[in-house]
Amino acid sequence: MAGERLRLGVNIDHVATVRNARGSAWPDPLRAALLAEAAGADGITAHLREDRRHIRDSDMDALMAGIGIPLNFECAATDEMKAIILRLKPHAVCLVPERREERTTEGGLDVAGDEARLRDYITPLREAGCRVSMFIGHAPRQIEASARIGAAVVELHTGHYSDLHAEGRLAEADAELAALREGARLAASLGLEVHAGHGLTYDNVAPVAAIPEVRELNIGHFLIGEAIYLGLGPAIEEMRRRMDEARG
Ligand code: PXP
Repeated sequence: MAGERLRLGVNIDHVATVRNARGSAWPDPLRAALLAEAAGADGITAHLREDRRHIRDSDMDALMAGIGIPLNFECAATDEMKAIILRLKPHAVCLVPERREERTTEGGLDVAGDEARLRDYITPLREAGCRVSMFIGHAPRQIEASARIGAAVVELHTGHYSDLHAEGRLAEADAELAALREGARLAASLGLEVHAGHGLTYDNVAPVAAIPEVRELNIGHFLIGEAIYLGLGPAIEEMRRRMDEARG
């Protein structure tokens, strides 16, 4: 496992945020996804939120039809989303908690507290061939519950680590990293594939990329912002370079 090439999933939600700010047709998330693919992204992630604040249903249709790399369909575990997933059958589904008033996905999913419902929820998705991922914190009980319900993947929430790093609280960021490392080890020992993401940037990605059990990072907001300066392809290539360097 160690040394295996770490995959990069590029989240293109905020291309849609910019588009929707003017109610126009551009910038087009599909075009961004195709540029990401050409720049070496291993997958595309898009979050269809209940309020459709960025990605819309038509974007998901266009991504499914247009990209040549796997689509990771991020959503809340609602009946509405289940119906869309079963129609589209994306490669992967990442279940996240969602609150209307939040600016972004602020915490992890409470799998342990909602185990029976989530087990039932993911069964048809698994049967449809989707790799189901739970976006969770590093608490062992959430990881263990994800394994029990039959998820293939856990994505560990790196948002708290990223915030601590950005605030210069480096000792606390290190402690959070240690907990993420422990979580990744536990998850892999239970047979779960481990992903990580949220708030990752050029400056904070290396220690997360270096966790040997982590197989994929999902990165969005920073890359779309950086694309303003560098262009999307070069912004992704630089992230790729830093990930590979950290991986050794
Ligand atoms: N992974 C998940 C599950 C997310 O919800 C998000 C944000 O949509 C990301 C990764 C990417 O986070 P960011 O946009 O901060 O890079």
